[in-house]
Amino acid sequence: VGRLAGCAASLRNVAARLRYGVPYGERCRAILAAEAPGRTVIDVGCMWQVDGAYAFHAAEHGATRVVGVDLMPATAEFVRRNDASERTVEFIQADVNDPDLATRAGRFDVVFCSGVIYHVPDPVSTLARLRSLCSDTLVLGSATIRERGRPQTAIFLPFMAPERRRRLVYRTTHGKVGLDTAFAAHESYANWYWLFTASCLEAMLAVAGFRVVSRYGYRRASCIVARAC
Ligand SMILES: C[S@@+](CC[C@H](N)C(=O)[O-])C[C@H]1O[C@@H](n2cnc3c(N)ncnc32)[C@H](O)[C@@H]1O
Repeated sequence: VGRLAGCAASLRNVAARLRYGVPYGERCRAILAAEAPGRTVIDVGCMWQVDGAYAFHAAEHGATRVVGVDLMPATAEFVRRNDASERTVEFIQADVNDPDLATRAGRFDVVFCSGVIYHVPDPVSTLARLRSLCSDTLVLGSATIRERGRPQTAIFLPFMAPERRRRLVYRTTHGKVGLDTAFAAHESYANWYWLFTASCLEAMLAVAGFRVVSRYGYRRASCIVARAC
């Protein structure tokens, strides 16, 4: 059974590669490797399940300064890896929506933000915060849904009737608070507030002062590269 499941997973990977090109995480790393050399990079939402891996990747590809930001404290794995690399990543424990973050952290040539924007109640204002950190390039990764009948659609999840919400659920390795479950106010940003279409994300980026230069679409995610304008 284990072997069959392994074969099925490999087949799914091959099918996804044929359809979408390189997987999402690999795409993010390739973009960072191309954007990082000689530039300053900030990774917003750098910690959960990845322990700063994208920030370290930017540092390993020649970024001149790398900052990681997260609401969570640094994990033991992050600290271990950072100590081993002579503290190449500066960590700031903060809320991206804190208006003082740009004053504390500075401005960066490259802002990388993956897996955060659907966790915030007011995404346009969070994108404006990312804009205030960004002097050139934003790499924005997000869960997305397929385009609907009308362009620029987004679904706001909190307090949706459970039978409706359940129709939007899909399987992932980790549970999704606010999508697999009801909205949990005490969980704050752990909730999934939004399901955006890619066209909606792009429109919000334009409102926040970014021009999209490339986009990579997946079945349930998008990775967008945009320039500050
Ligand atoms: C789904 S994880 C994404 C982790 C990683 N960037 C990735 O793409 O795999 C979201 C991360 O963003 C952090 N986060 C969520 N809301 C945040 C906020 N308002 N300010 C700073 N970090 C936040 C969470 O603590 C978590 O580490």
